Amino acid sequence: MTAATAAGRLVQSRMNSSYRVDNKEGVNNLVTEVDHASEKLIMDIIRKDFPDHFILSEEVGEIRMDSDYKWIIDPIDGTVNFAHGIPICCVSIGLEHQGKMVMGAVYNPFMDEFFFAEKGKGSSLNDKPIQVSGKSAVMESCFVTGFPYTYLDMPNGPLDVFGRFIRKGIPVRRLGSAAIDLCWVAAGRFDGFFEHKLSAWDSAAGFLIVEEAGGRVTDFEGNPYSPYQPQIVASNGQVHDELLRWIRDEV
Ligand code: IPD
Ligand code: CA
Ligand code: CA
Repeated sequence: MTAATAAGRLVQSRMNSSYRVDNKEGVNNLVTEVDHASEKLIMDIIRKDFPDHFILSEEVGEIRMDSDYKWIIDPIDGTVNFAHGIPICCVSIGLEHQGKMVMGAVYNPFMDEFFFAEKGKGSSLNDKPIQVSGKSAVMESCFVTGFPYTYLDMPNGPLDVFGRFIRKGIPVRRLGSAAIDLCWVAAGRFDGFFEHKLSAWDSAAGFLIVEEAGGRVTDFEGNPYSPYQPQIVASNGQVHDELLRWIRDEV
């Protein structure tokens, strides 16, 4: 996917340069000039080859077309990291066909890591096949999570769930890029990932990359995942049911 790598290189070249930064809804929900530039580059490449496809992209929203194909784009996933010069961010592009994810590409230019999946063909990292981990117990696992820009003050909210693991000494990281979190589950670096509130552009590509690497992705109830609802649990599959019980406070 040249769009993901081209945009990733653009993002990398602009880190620590001067660019305009705006705030979106919520506190510290940033969007930079570089998010817009990356988005434009990706959309120009896609539209050149597929001018009649539907596009859903974080900063421009929906470009509706009467098409079976829909591209779901996050031009920078990890914008807060980017704006602070923290090299943990990526470009995420997913392709849906008739409502099902069929292709996902995530490129982290700072580690030169290109994750890719096609439905039914497995997942790869820099063209080498990847697989989820083999851990089978939550107590032996290492997880990753993320937090929404506006805190969700709700029963069993993000900090309640996070605290449950930390109090028991189970490692839970917070990288700041949901797409990278998902790819690192796919690559077996993390055994699972959960987050209370994501948008389709955060997860569409990574969701397929986890599934094609042999993992499982659901909502907090264990229902099949859809990128159009907020909650996500992604894992290596083996720890999934136990992880769901921990998240729901049923342990
Ligand atoms: C955010 C990142 C972060 C997650 C947030 C997302 P953005 O995306 O994926 O890890 O915790 O929920 O909104 O704003 O950097 O594209
Ligand atoms: Ca995002
Ligand atoms: Ca983004």
